[in-house]
Amino acid sequence: MKVEQLTCAIGAELTGVRLSDALHDEDLFSEVRQALFKHRVLFLRDQDITRPEHVAFARKFGDLEDHPVVGSDPENPGLVQVYRSELSPPERYENAWHSDTTWREAPQFGAVLRCLECPPVGGDTMWANMVLAYERLPDTVKAQIADLRARHSIEASFGAAMSIEKRLALKAQYPDPEHPVVRTHPVTGEKVLYVNGFTTHFTNYHTAARVRVGQDHTHGSNDLMKYLISQAQIPEYQVRWRWKPNSIAIWDNSATQHYAVMDYPACVRKMERAGIIGTKPF
Ligand code: SIN
Repeated sequence: MKVEQLTCAIGAELTGVRLSDALHDEDLFSEVRQALFKHRVLFLRDQDITRPEHVAFARKFGDLEDHPVVGSDPENPGLVQVYRSELSPPERYENAWHSDTTWREAPQFGAVLRCLECPPVGGDTMWANMVLAYERLPDTVKAQIADLRARHSIEASFGAAMSIEKRLALKAQYPDPEHPVVRTHPVTGEKVLYVNGFTTHFTNYHTAARVRVGQDHTHGSNDLMKYLISQAQIPEYQVRWRWKPNSIAIWDNSATQHYAVMDYPACVRKMERAGIIGTKPF
């Protein structure tokens, strides 16, 4: 297997490997896993694998889970169908910079995404290294956010376009969890900046140390949250991947955020994502 780094910050392309071989070859799987924790997102081309092979490969990292709003392949539970039809903007909405399912108490550990069909040009996906984003924060900001916690919400994201009744039912099923603003990576022990498009507000900002009067809370916490969420947009932390059918991306959800670029005209884009269950961030 050859590993070619794609940017100075994040991402590597693997060549000379078939993921279906890694299903039965423990040494090969271990190499892929190590490369994942080093480069944070891995890319492969020409992986003509079956859906059961896709699911079985992702399962080697851990159990899979379905999505409460986006459907899964009925014959392969855990394989979420991220399908876009031929709707044009503004009917079609893609996404914001995010780390998958941080609206869960235990957000996903990672994902394996395969492209089935994509626009001839456009519809790339970008990833950002949130370990680097944390490292490069000014020391004063690091001190300011060290003990902060924040709430993440499925209600304010996937629920936003639903009727009030459906939205509240979704929220009752997935109550908004609270996570640390700086999490510790469960495998590498690195510190990670952990707010994203699902984050709504800090839960412990309003203390005497930070707030003299109410205005300080509204202004200070909103500005700080906006600043932290915007860090994923910094090009020096990113990689951008152009899809072709049978291209695959494998990412570490604890250390990265991603963004599916909606720059293409009305066109079918079909991706299938195996989301691997994670642990509660600390
Ligand atoms: C996702 O946000 O997990 C899907 C990314 C993509 O469709 O490129």
